[in-house]
Amino acid sequence: MYEGDIASVLISEDQIRDKTAELAAAIAEKFPEGQPEGDLLLVGVLKGAIFFMTDLARALPIPTQMEFMAVSSYGSSTSSSGVVRILKDLDKDIAGRHVLIVEDIIDSGLTLSWLMRNLSTRNPASLSVVTLLRKPEATKIDVDVEWVGFDIPNEFVVGYGLDYAERYRDLPYIGTLEPHVYGG
Ligand code: XMP
Ligand code: MG
Repeated sequence: MYEGDIASVLISEDQIRDKTAELAAAIAEKFPEGQPEGDLLLVGVLKGAIFFMTDLARALPIPTQMEFMAVSSYGSSTSSSGVVRILKDLDKDIAGRHVLIVEDIIDSGLTLSWLMRNLSTRNPASLSVVTLLRKPEATKIDVDVEWVGFDIPNEFVVGYGLDYAERYRDLPYIGTLEPHVYGG
């Protein structure tokens, strides 16, 4: 699949599976089953987080519920500006719930810090974040990301939900692209 487009495999399918199990165990320790606030509510950010979200939900040994949001940040296709527009909002009220934002990747962190501010105004019982990937820039922002799968170099990556021009989301691993894909 996508022959000649992938320059390297940065994180393999096995590594993703092992890390997801590790993150799930840590999350379940903090949110054990049977809380008065109800089941942990996973909030996935479309579309990049879908594969991680569904694998994480199945790895978690606690009952969870799922909601999705779609946001678009104004800016170029490969970097965000921090100005965010909601394309699809949550279907349910999150007041009084334990909410876990599930992210694919944090780069500048601008999208996430906007999302945290937006969701916290809805008065959840708690609001925390798990991200599969984090780029170096993200460590500069003051958003508290409790669970991080992998810190990766400042390279554009695709696969496991992440796209370039809507392609490559269906790859089972995280990889980098050959320059010719970008027209280089
Ligand atoms: P910020 O900069 O606000 O942006 O943290 C996060 C969003 O930017 C996209 N993004 C990427 N998408 N490969 C991608 O496919 C990447 O390497 C990459 N880096 C950032 C992504 O939509 C993420 O939610
Ligand atoms: Mg994208």
